Amino acid sequence: MGKILVTGGAGYIGSHCVIALINSGYDVVMFDSLEIGHIETVKTLQSIQAKGSVVDFIQGNLQNLSEISDVFKRHNIDSVVHFAAYSQVAESVKEPQKYYYNNVYGTLNLLNAMLENNVKNIVFSSTAATYGNPVYAPIDEKHPQIPVNPYGKTKLMIENIMDDYDKAYGLKSVRLRYFNVAGADYQARVGEWHNPETHLIPNILKSTFSDGKTFTLFGDDYDTKDGTCIRDYINVEDLANAHVLAIKYLNNGGETNFFNLGTTEGNSVKEVFKTCEDVVGKSVPIEIHPRRAGDPALLIAANNKAKSVMGWSPEKTLRDSITSAYNWEKILQERIQKKEMAEI
Ligand code: UFG
Repeated sequence: MGKILVTGGAGYIGSHCVIALINSGYDVVMFDSLEIGHIETVKTLQSIQAKGSVVDFIQGNLQNLSEISDVFKRHNIDSVVHFAAYSQVAESVKEPQKYYYNNVYGTLNLLNAMLENNVKNIVFSSTAATYGNPVYAPIDEKHPQIPVNPYGKTKLMIENIMDDYDKAYGLKSVRLRYFNVAGADYQARVGEWHNPETHLIPNILKSTFSDGKTFTLFGDDYDTKDGTCIRDYINVEDLANAHVLAIKYLNNGGETNFFNLGTTEGNSVKEVFKTCEDVVGKSVPIEIHPRRAGDPALLIAANNKAKSVMGWSPEKTLRDSITSAYNWEKILQERIQKKEMAEI
């Protein structure tokens, strides 16, 4: 089994992918600046002993070419899974410079370091945001890619760069276009841990912890069944497994390719909210606010390409994702409280 470099391995999706890789017997080198990722996550991942895999950690920033080049010199890397990026849509509109520099320039450094060291396989964390406003649903991989915010544009630029690097240098990539990622490790070892948190499920769950804290629902006047936005919530462990399959696909000589990762099922914000209340066993105070800028009414994936080419199928339900997210949120709240107590 080869050694896999995981950039952004201390982040939300990256950490679940590290677990999936070590469960499949790969050695892993995590490269993370810890600007968004957490040292606690690194320690947890390094404490997981599965099938004798080694998990190394290097703190570094992709914006610094020598830091990422050194990783390839010190480790015999076989393939790369690339998560490290900024990923907040609203922030990307306010601070595009930060996004283009970190996401695009950072990836160029990574690709250049790969080429220098003759590493030719990369799995890239792309997004449904590269499609922009849906022209039809469900969205398949042939849907036009016209991103409507700088975040989605950076991810599309990187996809295009990877195509050109394949033609010119033989660099093979699999780009995985995620829909709405949800849930946490089933043993609650890692999970979603953003500051600030903008995503729906953790925000609803956070509201169940502090009495009186209201959950804000953005827009109930969309042209959907109950007036709230519909999304395709894909479980993070199912998603992580797709990365392992993508590595195997490339290592078996697969050509550059791209796949949607979603369930093909849509759930409205109100449905997600009700399922959260049900899982937690508590009613959550809710306030309806105007629409959030840039939210399309409906985003649902077609996923048959990932099924037919990589043999990937999601297994977990929305309820599974909410249950695991809740179990993780309990641990997170304890950690936050302990930290706050220590600071007092
Ligand atoms: N929502 C609320 N209240 C909240 C948070 C979200 O009502 O506190 C609503 C949003 O308005 C939206 C839905 O819940 O209708 C889902 O919102 P999320 O922020 O959880 O997810 P998005 O669909 O906006 O974003 C996700 C990814 C992005 C990606 C985007 C498009 O997080 O990285 O899908 O693919 F760019």
